[in-house]
Amino acid sequence: MSFPSDFLWGGAIAANQSEGAYQSDNKGLSLVDILPSGQHRIEALHHPRKALNTTYDYYPSHEAIDFYHHYPEDIKLLAEMGFKVFRTSISWARIFPKGDETTPNEEGLRFYDQLFDECLKYNMELLITINHFDTPLYLVEHYGGWRNRKLIDFYLHYAETILERYKHKVKYWLTFNEINMMLHLPFFGGGLILEEDEDHNQVKYQAAHHQLVASSLAIQSGRTINPDFEFGCMLAAGEIYPYRPHPSDVLKAQQENYEQYMFIDVQAKGVYPWFTERLFQDKNVQLSMEKGDEQILQENTVDFISFSYYSSRLTSADPEILQNETHGNAFSTLKNPHLNASEWGWQIDPTGLRITMNSLYDRYEKPLFIVENGLGAKDSINENGTIEDNERISYMRDHLVQIEKAINDGIPVIGYTSWGCIDIVSAGTGEMKKRYGFIYVDRDNQGGGSGQRIRKKSFYWYQEVIRSNGEFK
Ligand code: BG6
Repeated sequence: MSFPSDFLWGGAIAANQSEGAYQSDNKGLSLVDILPSGQHRIEALHHPRKALNTTYDYYPSHEAIDFYHHYPEDIKLLAEMGFKVFRTSISWARIFPKGDETTPNEEGLRFYDQLFDECLKYNMELLITINHFDTPLYLVEHYGGWRNRKLIDFYLHYAETILERYKHKVKYWLTFNEINMMLHLPFFGGGLILEEDEDHNQVKYQAAHHQLVASSLAIQSGRTINPDFEFGCMLAAGEIYPYRPHPSDVLKAQQENYEQYMFIDVQAKGVYPWFTERLFQDKNVQLSMEKGDEQILQENTVDFISFSYYSSRLTSADPEILQNETHGNAFSTLKNPHLNASEWGWQIDPTGLRITMNSLYDRYEKPLFIVENGLGAKDSINENGTIEDNERISYMRDHLVQIEKAINDGIPVIGYTSWGCIDIVSAGTGEMKKRYGFIYVDRDNQGGGSGQRIRKKSFYWYQEVIRSNGEFK
């Protein structure tokens, strides 16, 4: 046994990291459009109020890789690799520039019609994220983002508009990208600007509840719009290991894993898990639910479990050990002495992917879809114009080996979309030089460069992987 014959090989990007054209054809601003790059971006993500009041020299999302104008050429390259599926997101602010309008922006809708037609021309399935870190800025400033229950209605109206419009073009839908990001980078995840004098946990869990209800309502509507739609949840995954075999570390790791699964438990099983009451007590959270919420969650669960996987993580119950945690990224972790790390400190753990898949399948018994995985690394162009990204190839090869093993163990896996299949702006740092792609885009961290697309060595490697249905790795 190996990869199933209908395995969906492909790649993924997101609107806000690729499209650019941030004000074209009536698009409104989304929250990423006020984020700078580099160290300023990391600060801005943690202090969005300050970012709102600051003018920066450069905003990477404004032009990104100009996918908005380059998509025919870019999709053609993806088709040349043999992509069976392409994952991107729809920019909410292209469809509803402020977010609370009743009438959608036809020009925005037309763009995605054209983009999707281009993919369908090459027989690529579409996997579309309804909301990927880009809530319209107006909803952040005027409604407080997802802390406000009104966002459920705005999102639902947006979701129904696109589900209806693209019902004959798109089959696979993800309601929210990395829904657990609400707890880690709440500005990205929920358009939340947390004030110092408010209870952050209370706001974050309440906002997450609103997203969970919104997700279920979108699925409910989607099923009437087209019963063949397949809906997935999306988790920023990565098993958390105990630092030591000490039972207190093992217990802490187990509890942290449970906590990261919490929202997926709701989306996959339809109920908040058994430990919720204790967790909310510990965190002093009083969740406000409306009549009918529980039924909506229960009746509209997802069809498959999608997730991003970049790394495993490590924790300890010992506060002294925990002092060494790195906090540079969205997730904190201790350093695992058995693993190497990327230049950005992301620890490389292919076996961790299999462990994560085992946990997810064990818990939900629904098909898995790996919708993000890859290595963010610098690339350089050789004198002869080639890009030898051997490190990226071995990263992906090692992860594909583990996916194959998981499939052979008996886990149903729908597909694999590597992250940033064409170089895009990094979400976390806004840099261009943190590249994930098979296709190099000549843009630098300040927005300079010709924008030219160049096939890397990994392009030909992945082409062969797809052609051989994973036999060649
Ligand atoms: C995921 C996000 O968390 O990680 C993507 O869904 C993001 O949007 C990816 O790009 C990689 O992170 P980064 O910061 O390297 O771009």
